Amino acid sequence: MADHPEPPATPTDGLGAATSMRTDRCGTLGPDDVGRTVSLCGWVDRRREHGEHLAFIDLRDHTGVIQCVVDGAHDLRSEYVVKMTGTVRRRPEGTVNPDLATGEVELADVTVEVLATAEPPPFPLDERTEVDEVLRLAHRYVDLRKARMQRNLRTRAVVNDAIRRSMQAQGFVEIETPMLIASTPEGARDFVVPSRKEPGSFYALPQSPQLFKQLCMVGGIDRYYQIARCLRDEDLRADRQFEFMQLDAEASFVSADDVHRFISAAVAEAVEAVTGERPAAFPVMTWHEAMERFGSDKPDVRFGMELVELTEVFADTAFNAFRAECIKGIRVPGGASLGRNRLDDLTDRVKAWGGKGLVWMRVGADRELASPVAKFLSDAELAATAERLEADEGDLLLLVADRRRTVQHLLGRLRLELGRPPVTEGGLHFLWVVDFPLFEDVGPDGRPVPAHHPFTMPHPDDLDLLDASGEELLAVRSQSYDLVLNGWELGSGSVRIHRRDIQERIFALLGIGEEEARAKFGFLLDAFRYGAPPHAGFAFGIDRLVALLVGEENIREVIAFPKTQSGADPLTGAPTPIDPAHLAELGLRLAPPR
Ligand code: AMO
Ligand code: AMP
Repeated sequence: MADHPEPPATPTDGLGAATSMRTDRCGTLGPDDVGRTVSLCGWVDRRREHGEHLAFIDLRDHTGVIQCVVDGAHDLRSEYVVKMTGTVRRRPEGTVNPDLATGEVELADVTVEVLATAEPPPFPLDERTEVDEVLRLAHRYVDLRKARMQRNLRTRAVVNDAIRRSMQAQGFVEIETPMLIASTPEGARDFVVPSRKEPGSFYALPQSPQLFKQLCMVGGIDRYYQIARCLRDEDLRADRQFEFMQLDAEASFVSADDVHRFISAAVAEAVEAVTGERPAAFPVMTWHEAMERFGSDKPDVRFGMELVELTEVFADTAFNAFRAECIKGIRVPGGASLGRNRLDDLTDRVKAWGGKGLVWMRVGADRELASPVAKFLSDAELAATAERLEADEGDLLLLVADRRRTVQHLLGRLRLELGRPPVTEGGLHFLWVVDFPLFEDVGPDGRPVPAHHPFTMPHPDDLDLLDASGEELLAVRSQSYDLVLNGWELGSGSVRIHRRDIQERIFALLGIGEEEARAKFGFLLDAFRYGAPPHAGFAFGIDRLVALLVGEENIREVIAFPKTQSGADPLTGAPTPIDPAHLAELGLRLAPPR
């Protein structure tokens, strides 16, 4: 995890180490402590026996390990919980361990008190052994003892603390919103909780505090924030859990730029608290530019391989596959060495992702392009392709022709597939992506599909475009924005609609009738009748931020008790059936299994 420095010590590592049972923590002792008599508590990490009467025991707590020289008979096993009292001394010449923070010293003249015995751990606790995920989670309490998990969870605490400090300093008020609510319009499935008092009725667990934070604005809170638990019943992936945490914020009388400033400050504070360095101001890119250059609304700008426009080059082409609305290409540095099988595999993938095909070209000496389709292309077309893609000998060029959105999507995926560095490399590259389209697509019924929730304010310059229909509506920009980090969507937000007339127009466009709007968001629309300030907000995923800060590919690694990919908790067994009596009390009867 080279690029990601260790998090700073948590406050408790210094002051307050001493308790009635110990004087110090294991990992903090060094040459300055030589001669001191100390008491340490922790777990037996490694044992090296030297005959029957001498053992070197590594004693471990969350700060690290220290070698303890234990004389005499003993019965210490791995993971026993012990208290060791002894004298800190310099290690003899030649036995210093430079890889260990405490490697210059050891504990001698040790007396041992066993505080708890332990069965052998279900898996080794070193960082090298790959352990099955389910086994790890089933014994998470043991897994958490690993240095990696200790680092991740402590970094998370540092991040939460920094976010709170920053939001408080910027005048945001921490408000807790309810967990048992009606539905939130975030687009995932709700988790629901049956009501006992009203059998047949259900609470939804919040997908986000979205509607409540807007109500807080109507309530004159001015600036709200919360480190909020959100629940969404969606398919789990490396960056998705059922339950996750957001820094959720909303502010009144602000523009999108103000929100970017608040959120950038909180994120920068968190990054600085973890890495010791405050990141530079986050650059801003329009959604349009992100799609054109990177083929993604969450561009990973740690590496190049940008999409290059070639449509003009093939304007009069004789090659049928290239008679299309848009042609773009990417250059894979050194990619000419990819074998035929890999290239066929890439072509198959492009087809599986919805493309018609993929043209590849190997760049030889003098920018000579070798490709199965070269014979269909003119010399001028080949030369211009090499020129625009700045091709060098040994590179691979990949070209796709299709509708513009499709070309962007396909090349964007190929770019990631072939170029994306591991999560620990390339530093932290934040990016604001702004001016998202208001609508993501036009459905088969001709109705636009909203890109964000239906309270997102259209771009002020595009209000007239709302009168258009069909595909033309896709040109309407919104005042919504995302914060992107190394190709992950860290968060999103928008300026909200606070005017009834605009809201009604959007509902009408989305085909949300008056009745549906009342049923779903009646309370919010009612609230807006009583004086809603212009407001805007944002939420970012804390799990994702922490994962990227510590260099983890999966957010499970920064969550104390996560679910597996299939949504189960191997530790508690959740989800579990419930007692028939309990079901009856809730007025529920199970349908036969599907
Ligand atoms: P959105 O739905 O984009 O916006 O969520 C904001 C951020 O929350 C994180 N996130 C998740 N993290 C882990 N697991 C999940 N299943 C998951 N889903 C979302 C992501 C995401 O960017 N109310 C709006 C914000 C607003 O408009 O103010 C909202 O929730 O990092
Ligand atoms: P075809 O004419 O369909 O046999 O395709 C000839 C070559 O062009 C094959 O290598 C295809 O993968 C590729 N190809 C076909 N359609 C496209 C397209 N829209 N964009 C890029 N390459 C394509």
